[in-house]
Amino acid sequence: MIEIKNVNKYYGDYRVLKDVDFTINEGEIFGIIGHSGAGKSTLLRCINRLESFDNGDIVVDGKNIMSLNDSELREMRKNLGMIFQHFSLLERMTVFQNVALPMECFGYKKSEIKERVEKLLDLVGILDKKNEKPRNLSGGQKQRVAIARALTMKPRVLLCDEATSALDPKTTNSILSLLQEINEKLGITIVVVTHQMEVIKQICTRTAIMDKGEVLQIGETEEIFLSNTKPLRKLLGEESIVLPEGKNLKLLFTNDRSNDAIITGMARELNVDVSIVFGKLEKFREDILGSLIINIPDGYVEQVKEYLNKKNMRWQEVDDEL
Ligand SMILES: Nc1ncnc2c1ncn2[C@@H]1O[C@H](COP(=O)(O)OP(=O)(O)O)[C@@H](O)[C@H]1O
Ligand SMILES: [Mg+2]
Repeated sequence: MIEIKNVNKYYGDYRVLKDVDFTINEGEIFGIIGHSGAGKSTLLRCINRLESFDNGDIVVDGKNIMSLNDSELREMRKNLGMIFQHFSLLERMTVFQNVALPMECFGYKKSEIKERVEKLLDLVGILDKKNEKPRNLSGGQKQRVAIARALTMKPRVLLCDEATSALDPKTTNSILSLLQEINEKLGITIVVVTHQMEVIKQICTRTAIMDKGEVLQIGETEEIFLSNTKPLRKLLGEESIVLPEGKNLKLLFTNDRSNDAIITGMARELNVDVSIVFGKLEKFREDILGSLIINIPDGYVEQVKEYLNKKNMRWQEVDDEL
């Protein structure tokens, strides 16, 4: 649906996007996470051609966006709704007028505008606020107005740039639930740009981790959390502590309770002293995901690996990350 092919972009000498290359599939909620300055907003603006790029291609719905003429570009932009951190509502207009604005620009009939705007305000849960001015709304309500406005042209994709970054955790959750509902009910593909891990964990099916203009990792969100790779740990500000002697292995497990006894069982069966170096458990949607780094004395490493394989335990060596 959105193919980003080897895109590079410079601001002067500064390379803000470095060989960015991935595809966002129809119907998914795709997350792009990274620290501030990673190039996330720039990439989003390249997708709807608010920014140009220096080389590479972006193909939306089979069309190379750099080859579109003005009217084709307008059509494409109708298909890409967008919301921002600071809502971008017009203060002098009511909620209804804000949401109606895009349809008015495109010259729709009054009756059609009224019908669609009210339906959308109902969908986002603020129909009762339709005659209010934005200043009388909470942050969450303002973002609901912005979402309704982004949906007026019946886009197939909704691009969200830090849409929950100005909201408290509870409001963030309610906005994320709304985005999920929109994805499911209307079948709209959603691209979520954020620096907040909670956002990714809560709604994104696949995720790309960006750092300094580069995509460091991309995959199913659950897989990214399970594998707990260097880019993710860097993003979370975690350093794994490993011991210099023996071999350090990382075990990865989900909320299957049979995992609990694996270390003690292994220690007994192989008669080996295993040290636990680092462990982490976290909630991921309905599951608990965990990782445990253990240290195995030299001479036992192969037996331990065999034992873990026999028990279908996922593991990785971590010494190369020292
Ligand atoms: N118009 C611009 N001119 C020059 N540098 C810019 C411009 N816009 C953004 N940048 C720089 O590009 C980098 C990426 O910015 P941005 O895409 O906004 O990152 P993010 O959204 O991940 O925080 C930053 O270092 C920023 O300072
Ligand atoms: Mg940004």
